[in-house]
Amino acid sequence: MSHYLPDYVLTNEELSTMVDTNDEWITTRTGIKERHILKDDHAGSSQLAIPAVRDLLQKTGTAPDEVELLICATSSPDYTWPSTACVIADAVDIRKAMCYDILSACTGFLYCLQQAQAFIKSGIYKKIIICSAEKCTSFVNYKDRTTCTLFGDGGTAALIEPSEEFGVEIAKIHADGAGHEHLIRYCGGSANVPSHEAVDKGLQYIFQDGKYVFKNAVNFMTGAVSEVMEEGQLTLDDIDWICTHQANKRIIDAVRQHLNAPEEKVICNIEHVGNTSSASIPIALHEAALEGKIKKGDRLLLAAFGSGFTWGSVYLSWGDCKI
Ligand code: COA
Repeated sequence: MSHYLPDYVLTNEELSTMVDTNDEWITTRTGIKERHILKDDHAGSSQLAIPAVRDLLQKTGTAPDEVELLICATSSPDYTWPSTACVIADAVDIRKAMCYDILSACTGFLYCLQQAQAFIKSGIYKKIIICSAEKCTSFVNYKDRTTCTLFGDGGTAALIEPSEEFGVEIAKIHADGAGHEHLIRYCGGSANVPSHEAVDKGLQYIFQDGKYVFKNAVNFMTGAVSEVMEEGQLTLDDIDWICTHQANKRIIDAVRQHLNAPEEKVICNIEHVGNTSSASIPIALHEAALEGKIKKGDRLLLAAFGSGFTWGSVYLSWGDCKI
């Protein structure tokens, strides 16, 4: 597994010079202190995943032509087409694999895991790379204090291979489009083609109904973790680590409280990374593994929520992961 964060760190102090906000508000309402930003306007999300995929290939001793499938979760693709997966594959010399993007916003990593395990279990593929590539700041309006404090950029890559012992045990992944207008970028796709008028209205930026999204994130994620716990007849003793999408520390706390879990079981890096959409869970997992927290054989409960609405929860055992 691997992850990459761009060098530039945007602190709450710097944000306070750009928009009417302050460190105290951002910290208490979101738990975020800083986020990494890809400053180059002409570098897309692929540039965040490419270093992670290169590192992954190197540390797992995988030759590019061995990779059979590359799936890229992204809410901020380089282009509408070609897929960001194709751009990444080209950069790392993967020439024959099936490559495609998944657009399921902040739940993207769980969607990738579910698809990768379906291809593995069916025997169709044996070497799959799942990545997340998120230049979230490309759709953030730095004049809108209600959204610009939340998002950061990052990329990740993980190699998924067959295993008798490790991997996804239970997955409950969902979507309900009834929520789609509450967390949306109106312009950029085919529904609102880019125009001077659309840009003047700021429709290229993320729009969110913060309170509505907050409530739904808590409800859907707690619902999904309950589904997983029930199906597996799990208790807290069956879970070594809980890692949810890093959107807001208060949302993470609500899921933890729902599970009656102690802080020590929760993996949280929101303070220095912010919300990196589909990259947020894998960045948090990889950092925790590098810190020596997550070890081979540990059992993890994951949960995510994002635009769509999409949401889900996964229970897995952590394999022989080269970190
Ligand atoms: N700095 C200072 N004040 C701010 C602010 C900021 N960055 N952003 C909002 N405020 C103000 C508001 O204007 C409001 O002032 P008012 O009472 O005078 O009108 C006040 O703070 C409270 O705003 P509110 O929107 O009620 O705050 P909140 O507690 O709901 O927090 C979010 C706002 C966005 C942090 C929160 O709703 C949230 O995290 N929602 C979910 C977002 C999310 O997870 N999105 C991605 C999902 S994948």
